[in-house]
Amino acid sequence: VDVDPSAYEHGAGDGRPRMYTEILEQPESVDRTLRGRLDERFGTAHLGGLDLDARELRAIRRVKILGCGSAYYVGQMGALLVEELARIPADAEAASEFRYRNPIIEPDTLYVAVSQSGETIDTLLAVEEIKRKGGRVIGLVNVVGSAVARACDGGIYLHAGPEIAVASTKALTTMYVGFALLALQLGRVRDLSVADGKRLVAGLQKLPAQIGQVLATEDRIAELAATLARSESMFFVGRVRGFPVAREGAQKFKEISYRHAEAYQMSELKHGPLALISPDVPTVAIVPDDELTDRNVAALHEIAARGGPLVVVTHAGVDLGALEVERIDVPKNETELDPLLLTVPLQLLAYHAALVLGHDVDKPRNLAKSVTVE
Ligand code: G6P
Repeated sequence: VDVDPSAYEHGAGDGRPRMYTEILEQPESVDRTLRGRLDERFGTAHLGGLDLDARELRAIRRVKILGCGSAYYVGQMGALLVEELARIPADAEAASEFRYRNPIIEPDTLYVAVSQSGETIDTLLAVEEIKRKGGRVIGLVNVVGSAVARACDGGIYLHAGPEIAVASTKALTTMYVGFALLALQLGRVRDLSVADGKRLVAGLQKLPAQIGQVLATEDRIAELAATLARSESMFFVGRVRGFPVAREGAQKFKEISYRHAEAYQMSELKHGPLALISPDVPTVAIVPDDELTDRNVAALHEIAARGGPLVVVTHAGVDLGALEVERIDVPKNETELDPLLLTVPLQLLAYHAALVLGHDVDKPRNLAKSVTVE
């Protein structure tokens, strides 16, 4: 049965939309995802629910991540984490596509199904298809005892608390943390050094407070949202780690503001979308302080040269020179973990744009919280 969002009581009883409450809950929900799972001494994570010993973890040759909507985008972030920390080839695919293409199921691949509700039909049927063909699937699921959780061989519960608003926020950030824990554990039974493991454990521990710091910049983000809301169409761009962040940002923006927001790889702009850049088409660019900053800043110049207004989500250490941009600085964490903090201002951007436009942010038109029928 399709979940009717109107069946829920909206807001937390304080007159604020439920989505807003859930955005503000993130420091706490991320803290719950981490609780009891970090090992400071050995610089690793312990995920009891995986039910895989070190020998089985070492035998994994590939990681394939499946989810829908925001769960798919965070899956792309998770695939990069697995590749960076564990050096295991990993990728994410929309569960809805995967199950229709007679996928090849390999015994030494770890399949990961990602779902807040655990009831999304495409994700559930993808899990069943993998199991039918003898594959091993773990779940990254929020709702305990849900259909996806029951169908999987084991997994990681997110403990994000109930997520009611259609636009996913705290589920996504806790999924990110779930992937970081998984990648850390996979890495530490392989080549990830204890020093790197400890560095990442310390980075993970800093996340709740740093999310709080991003949330404290809400007033500035609200101003920028009001400006963006005036445009009918815009781009969200990023490169490598920043690209799934841009995809999630565009998704959030379009689903509650009903503005056209298209995500693109920063590196691909010159192969088409640059033709659309003009003073009427703003770009929200994700530019972390990492090994790709220079390339990203060069792309910002290309956009600015065509009169495209820019909102840049970045770190204080990034020098944008003479570029005229609106910038949102987020706190710096370890490079691998930065995507989570870059995602949070995009939630507030979408939220405030929708408010300015007078939309019901908790009940976006045509959308359901869980898509449980085909
Ligand atoms: C729906 C929601 C999205 C969500 C997706 C997957 O489309 O509107 O916000 O990301 O389903 O939901 P799940 O419960 O599987 O994470």
